Amino acid sequence: MEQEKIRELIRAAFAARENAYCEYSHFAVGAALLAKDGEIYHGCNVENISYGATICAERNAFFQAVAKGKRDFKAIAIVGGLSDGDAVADYAYPCGMCLQVMSEFCKDDFLVIVAKSIGDYQSVTLKELLPKGFAGIR
Ligand code: THU
Repeated sequence: MEQEKIRELIRAAFAARENAYCEYSHFAVGAALLAKDGEIYHGCNVENISYGATICAERNAFFQAVAKGKRDFKAIAIVGGLSDGDAVADYAYPCGMCLQVMSEFCKDDFLVIVAKSIGDYQSVTLKELLPKGFAGIR
């Protein structure tokens, strides 16, 4: 993926993170999902007093896109860190449940970009993060 597109996606993830509702963990996550048609879908984590009802930023972005009829995706950018500032200290790799949702809709070469800033990021494929995921009976 071109550098400029990656930077645009990371910028969108930072914007999505602004809306994170993380009253309990104080860990704010933003995700920006790029559909194959070029559209970008935002997601943030939304926590709940019943902790298990929380949704992660990545799944939020996927479900918003799927609710709009999208099924084909290129990449996702993720930014996560403590909500006490704009900067994030570490790369926030997706949790197992989010990887499982990605694997429902995406091929092995789907790109997962984790960023600390617009210019400081790592990118890996879904296959690298989930080499042997559950695929059920197909
Ligand atoms: N979280 C995400 O949004 N994405 C992940 O992949 C892992 C964790 C959220 C859930 C919860 O609101 C907070 O981060 C702390 O776990």
